[in-house]
Amino acid sequence: METTLVLIKPGGVSRNLIGEICRRIEARGLQITGLELIRAKRETVEAHYGEHKGKGFYEDVVNYLLSGPIVALAVSGENAVKAIRAMMGATNPIDATPGTVRGDLALSIEDNLVHSSSDVEAAKFELGLWFPAGPIRS
Ligand code: CDP
Ligand code: MG
Repeated sequence: METTLVLIKPGGVSRNLIGEICRRIEARGLQITGLELIRAKRETVEAHYGEHKGKGFYEDVVNYLLSGPIVALAVSGENAVKAIRAMMGATNPIDATPGTVRGDLALSIEDNLVHSSSDVEAAKFELGLWFPAGPIRS
């Protein structure tokens, strides 16, 4: 049993894809154990993308996450980290396999709709940032 973090980025919220993305997660057999519609704080986003600090896209991706409301999801289930990562698809939607969220619903890397934790260690760190009080449903 694992729990991972998904963020529906501002583009996903503004395109009314909250339901579509949550539907896919639940249909797969995973459980949404935390869910919040929020305007992120800069310090949270900077910590979240800390591994990318100094890279060319860092400022842009941080500002993008701050540009509108986002949805934070805690998602739990067997092998949830890997299962969700595969469901979201490759970082650049042009390379993402059809059937994935990015492969079906996105076209540009700057607006690739979702974030998901890359591994179990990252999931633990990111869940601590976005759900400091812990998951709501267990
Ligand atoms: O989100 P993911 O883990 O698939 O990719 P990442 O390599 O950790 O990059 C984080 C985010 O930065 C991506 O989801 C993109 O939104 C953005 N990015 C970008 O705009 N241009 C790049 N060349 C790489 C990443
Ligand atoms: Mg990443």
